[in-house]
Amino acid sequence: MAKLAGKTALVIGAGSADEGWGNGKACAVQFAREGARVVCVDLDLALAEDTAQMIRSEGGEAIALAGNAAQAEDMHAVIEQTVAHFGGIDTLLNNVGIVVAGGVVDLPEEQWDRVFDINLKSAFLTMKYAIPHMIAGGGGSIINISSISGIRYLGKNYVAYYSSKAAMNHMTTVTAAEYASQQVRVNAILPGLMDTPMARTSAKNNWGASQEQLDDVWKKRVERVPMGWLGDAFDIAKAAVFFASDDSRFVTGQHLVVDGGTTLGV
Ligand SMILES: NC(=O)c1ccc[n+]([C@@H]2O[C@H](COP(=O)([O-])OP(=O)(O)OC[C@H]3O[C@@H](n4cnc5c(N)ncnc54)[C@H](O)[C@@H]3O)[C@@H](O)[C@H]2O)c1
Repeated sequence: MAKLAGKTALVIGAGSADEGWGNGKACAVQFAREGARVVCVDLDLALAEDTAQMIRSEGGEAIALAGNAAQAEDMHAVIEQTVAHFGGIDTLLNNVGIVVAGGVVDLPEEQWDRVFDINLKSAFLTMKYAIPHMIAGGGGSIINISSISGIRYLGKNYVAYYSSKAAMNHMTTVTAAEYASQQVRVNAILPGLMDTPMARTSAKNNWGASQEQLDDVWKKRVERVPMGWLGDAFDIAKAAVFFASDDSRFVTGQHLVVDGGTTLGV
């Protein structure tokens, strides 16, 4: 029995930064495989359309919309279009997130603001506009894709990224507390060191790593995972299906670490 049959899911950041499977794309496709109708939203409409097209090619139902998650008017429009098209919103998944390298001394102020707008304000905006519709529909599930970097220093200073994810964790907790009595559940997933296009490109984009350095970074990445291998985007997507489904109907305000043991301190 499909776990999300009859539900409508809205995935913000449903494209993939590069070839392969990013977390948002995998979540959108896995939601559809579990029977959900999916609205795929991305800054880049072509990326959202790729994901929606993949869902339709598997026999699922999906539409693609363009929108900048950091812009209030875009997110308001996306949520109103979702409700107009599918009649409500059962699941909202906030996946957008960018990494910019730098510590407090060297990170330019405008990059701090940009990371916070994209990683944190985006989820504030989508929840602001989606929650009233969820309440009107009898409840819903919000899933915020955070990171273990919100609870640990991971060896490279990305101060804005780490701080935005820590704030996202607490925004998840307090929003869950506020809306629990109205059956809106809010949970976070904290991916660890994953094998995704974002992870592969970030070392190159952020500090210009050569292919040789990238191979070395990748080897060290694997060594930091006690289970001995890197998870992929479907490890995140399957955790997201749990939070989207009624299997987690009594679970709210939780931060689920999906990291193969990296944060255990082994
Ligand atoms: N990949 C990892 O190793 C890893 C580890 C920990 C946490 N995460 C978190 O997972 C999330 C996404 O990872 P992913 O691998 O799917 O990334 P991704 O970059 O592959 O996918 C994100 C999508 O979001 C879109 N996007 C970016 N900015 C946007 C904006 N302002 N408005 C709308 N769409 C926008 C991009 O176009 C892209 O298609 C992020 O929140 C990231 O912090 C990833």
